[in-house]
Formats: sequence, C-alpha cells, structure tokens
Amino acid sequence: PGRLRGVVAMDGPSGTGKSTVSRRLAIAGEAAYLDTGAMYRAATLAVLRAGLDEQSPAEDITAVAVAAELESITDPAAPRILLDGEDVEAEIRGGPVTMLVSAVSAQPTVRAVLVERQRKLIAEALGTVGGIVVEGRDIGSVVAPDAELKVYLTASEEVRAARRGAQDRKAGRAGDHETTLADVRRRDRLDSTRATSPLHAAPDALILDTDDLSVDAVLDELLRLVTERGLVS
Ligand code: DC
Repeated sequence: PGRLRGVVAMDGPSGTGKSTVSRRLAIAGEAAYLDTGAMYRAATLAVLRAGLDEQSPAEDITAVAVAAELESITDPAAPRILLDGEDVEAEIRGGPVTMLVSAVSAQPTVRAVLVERQRKLIAEALGTVGGIVVEGRDIGSVVAPDAELKVYLTASEEVRAARRGAQDRKAGRAGDHETTLADVRRRDRLDSTRATSPLHAAPDALILDTDDLSVDAVLDELLRLVTERGLVS
C-alpha cells in the first residue's frame, strides 16, 4: 500500500487477533511494531524471577517490575523483548506469567513507568521509519491519545477462548477449552475493572467486531482505513 506514516493504536482484549493483524499491518506499511503487552509480561517475568507472587506486597511487586531491564525490538518481522539482555519472548507467553500479569499491570507506578517507555519507543520509531503500529489495552486512550488511527478490536468470549486455545496448541502449550475460557474471563474482568487505565475503547476509536472476520479480512479493513485517512505515502 505504501509507507505508513504516524501512529496506529490497536486496542482490545486478548484473542481478537490483535497481535497478528498489528504485525501484518506494520509489515505491509514498512513501519515499526510495538507489543506493549509483551512489556507488561516481561516485567511480570522479572517479578516471578525475584521469587514474588500475587500474595507479595504491592510495593515489592512494583519495585521489581519498574527496575526490570527491558528492551523492545520493534521490527515487525521479528518482534522480541529482552529481559536483562535475554530473549524471553517464549517464556512470557506461558502460564505463570499469564496468571500474574493482570496483577502487575494494575499497579499505577508500573503503568506510569511503562507508558513513559512506550512513548519514547513511539517517538524513536516516528523519527526513524516514520510510522508505528502499537498494540495494547490503553494505547488510544492513554499512551498515544493523538494517534492518527485508533482501532478497538473485539470478539465474543467464546471466539477469543477458541483462538487462544488454537494459539496455545500451536506453541505446544496444553489447555482445555473450559480452562482457557475461564482464564479469558478472569483477565477480562481484572483488566477492565482495575482503577488505573481500565480496558475500554477510546471515544474516537473505530470498533471492529472480529467474530465473523478472518485475519485477512481485518487486515484488508485496516489497509483500507489507513489509505482512506491518507496515512500511507
Ligand atoms: O496483550 P497481552 O495478553 O499480551 O497483555 C498481557 C496483559 O498485560 C493483559 O492482561 C493486560 C496487560 N496490558 C495492559 O494492561 N496494558 C497494555 N497496554 C497491554 C497489556
């Protein structure tokens, strides 16, 4: 389509195909790609490695999470996150991190620190490749309220749990549908009821229900939108 200019904010709960379409949009637009969920997950891995869990005092969790040495690689062809220089891309998708990440990402200080880093990464990308697709829960509402395009992907719980299950099996992780569905519901509840930046669509976000849309169809719609808005050159 040409080169993507500016910021595309992709928000929504997990299992909507957000990561896949965000990456593919960035690849198609020769832009950078930032997975902010990976940053919360890697900070959570640091918390686990420090021997803490959900029973630990919030101050301890926050202290470890904000001190975590993270490096985000925003190449959409091979996005990665490093914790203390180690590629932890696979480990952050596993059960222990997934169980704890909502608790860590609910800490206001953790959010403040990671949001600052995200804004810096966005500014860097705009200064180099000129465009970036950023995915998360609060990108259009908090991290990049001036984004040129804000999209909020949704899908029913059942469909999202089925997609997550398929993804887990592909990555060699076990998990039956009921457990996955329960986990999707638990995280939705925690992520949308936390006090600081709960998951919700920004008022000016375009809401796309992906229940009946394939990844290709969602990508086509996004390419149409960025072209229509003059974000490609
Ligand atoms: O997108 P994901 O499943 O990898 O995100 C992991 C968790 O991080 C999710 O439960 C909510 C949290 N998160 C957040 O609070 N804010 C973001 N911008 C991205 C993720």
